[in-house]
Amino acid sequence: MEIQNIFVVGAGLMGSGIAQTALQSGYTVTLNDQREEALDRAKAGINNRLERLVEKGKMTEEEKADCMSRLTTDTRLNAAAKADLVIEAIFEELSAKREIFQSLDAICPASTIFASNTSSISLTALGAATNRPEKVVGMHFFSPVPVMRLLEIVFGLRTSQEVLDAVKEVGKKMGKWLILAKDKPGFIVNRALLPMLNEAVQILDEGVGTVEDVDNGMKLGCNHPMGPLELADMIGLDILLEVMQVFYEDLGDTKYRPAHLLRKMVTAHYLGRKTGSGFYLYENGKKLAVNPVLTREHSLFDQQ
Ligand SMILES: NC(=O)c1ccc[n+]([C@@H]2O[C@H](COP(=O)([O-])OP(=O)(O)OC[C@H]3O[C@@H](n4cnc5c(N)ncnc54)[C@H](O)[C@@H]3O)[C@@H](O)[C@H]2O)c1
Repeated sequence: MEIQNIFVVGAGLMGSGIAQTALQSGYTVTLNDQREEALDRAKAGINNRLERLVEKGKMTEEEKADCMSRLTTDTRLNAAAKADLVIEAIFEELSAKREIFQSLDAICPASTIFASNTSSISLTALGAATNRPEKVVGMHFFSPVPVMRLLEIVFGLRTSQEVLDAVKEVGKKMGKWLILAKDKPGFIVNRALLPMLNEAVQILDEGVGTVEDVDNGMKLGCNHPMGPLELADMIGLDILLEVMQVFYEDLGDTKYRPAHLLRKMVTAHYLGRKTGSGFYLYENGKKLAVNPVLTREHSLFDQQ
């Protein structure tokens, strides 16, 4: 089936990046969010990022105008009535995603494919919330979507080959490198990556090395572009904790148990970049120094 109209639900970090990439790939896009201000911010962000491409000579003014002319924003889900493909990118919460898919099931034609950008929720469970489980699929993009080349396509137990073929075409048209994953917690990338980040926190907690040595070790010894602790700060320590908890419960192996220090950091509201402090301190998005609570030596005053 040919995809032309894409309906993106959720205009946050991922949804706006997906919408921009779809526009740049020639699709007609309706971007939906329950909050008008999120739509305004997303549209302005897309416009600014495309403007920067024009300034750098990577896009012409006409191409930019053409992209923006194919973008519509709408707070109503009813606007999905003509969508060939829905890509959902709202909060990572099963009940909220199920609710969206149930509502869209009643609005969209039977041919519409429902994709979710979920990082951890079961596509089989999302499919079961609809009357079209064979049309439900995972399209797991990476942040920032216009820059990161990977698209992880995830198939639920009932996802059809026809649907996989259709989203594969979309991914290719978007210029992404595709990998295919079964519906199991973390799919391929997060299943491999997040336990490594959790282990780095465990290594720090055991005092094997300092924050900087753990990060430099993986950067300079393994050629990783970012250290695991700074990457954990970027992802959000609360998100890392949540996903590790899902791995631990669903996969049932103690190797996935969230590091004790990770739990403490989240309890103390050190959530990473978004709160200005995690393993490092940040100001205006710039990394300043190691969080001093992690290097502090404690002692009792001399009682003599
Ligand atoms: N942030 C990442 O690096 C990343 C990477 C890959 C996948 N994901 C996944 O992408 C999804 C979105 O993540 P994000 O970081 O863009 O989140 P975000 O918080 O930036 O954006 C979520 C948006 O969804 C909107 N929303 C919430 N409920 C809605 C509803 N019922 N109807 C319409 N809009 C609604 C919110 O108003 C918000 O604008 C999540 O499933 C997440 O796991 C995130």
